[in-house]
Amino acid sequence: MTIKEAIKHRHSIRRFKEAPLSDEVRAKLSALAAECSCDEVSIRLVCGDRECFDTFLARYGKFKNAYNYFALVSKKDQDTDEKAGYMGQKLVLKVEELGLGTCWVGGTYSKGKCKAELAEDEKIICIIAVGEPDEQGTKHRSKPMDKICTVKEEDMPTWFKNGVIGALYAPTAMDQQKFTISLDGDEAVITAGKAPFAKIDLGIVKYNFEAASGHEVR
Ligand SMILES: Cc1cc2nc3c(=O)[nH]c(=O)nc-3n(C[C@H](O)[C@H](O)[C@H](O)COP(=O)(O)O)c2cc1C
Repeated sequence: MTIKEAIKHRHSIRRFKEAPLSDEVRAKLSALAAECSCDEVSIRLVCGDRECFDTFLARYGKFKNAYNYFALVSKKDQDTDEKAGYMGQKLVLKVEELGLGTCWVGGTYSKGKCKAELAEDEKIICIIAVGEPDEQGTKHRSKPMDKICTVKEEDMPTWFKNGVIGALYAPTAMDQQKFTISLDGDEAVITAGKAPFAKIDLGIVKYNFEAASGHEVR
């Protein structure tokens, strides 16, 4: 599966198979977590944690067997939400290529019960559930292009249109898609609207745009 296919194929998976992940799969996921970490955001794999999703909200959100997840961690005094979105989405698409399912989770888990090891000066930004899917899942409903983009479709360069399509496939918290894409000269610019988790969403959307268009975004 190419990264462009992964962008189209991905949708959130909240119900996973009961069986623990094999050592081989764990090793692959750990390696990807390390590969997608950076100076500001450390991504840590936690396996077999039966408490983190043992909350009313997680059950209400229909999570099942969500025992494995990546914790996205940064220093307490830094605002790294956008970077976390960017690096996390890179990871999500690589995991998709392995044939596993993921779901970004900012709210419906227990921060207090989360088993990721943290230093005194670190915080969890959000987590990403991961595992063998036990459901098909469904694609999210997307806004039309003209609701998220200031450029008319007929005026879009091909690379830009590919990026906009990739951005529309990106997961956003509560499926809000509150971002705006514009063109400044020959540079794409994406800005976040006001919404919970909007900066994480912004990083995710930027990653999808860049991967789908092959062009850097401001
Ligand atoms: C930053 C962020 C936080 C999210 N938090 C939650 C959450 O707390 N609980 C949940 O069930 N889904 C959560 N989601 C998943 C979104 O609801 C989902 O991505 C969106 O509805 C689009 O659907 P899709 O991922 O299938 O394309 C979150 C997604 C993002 C990007």
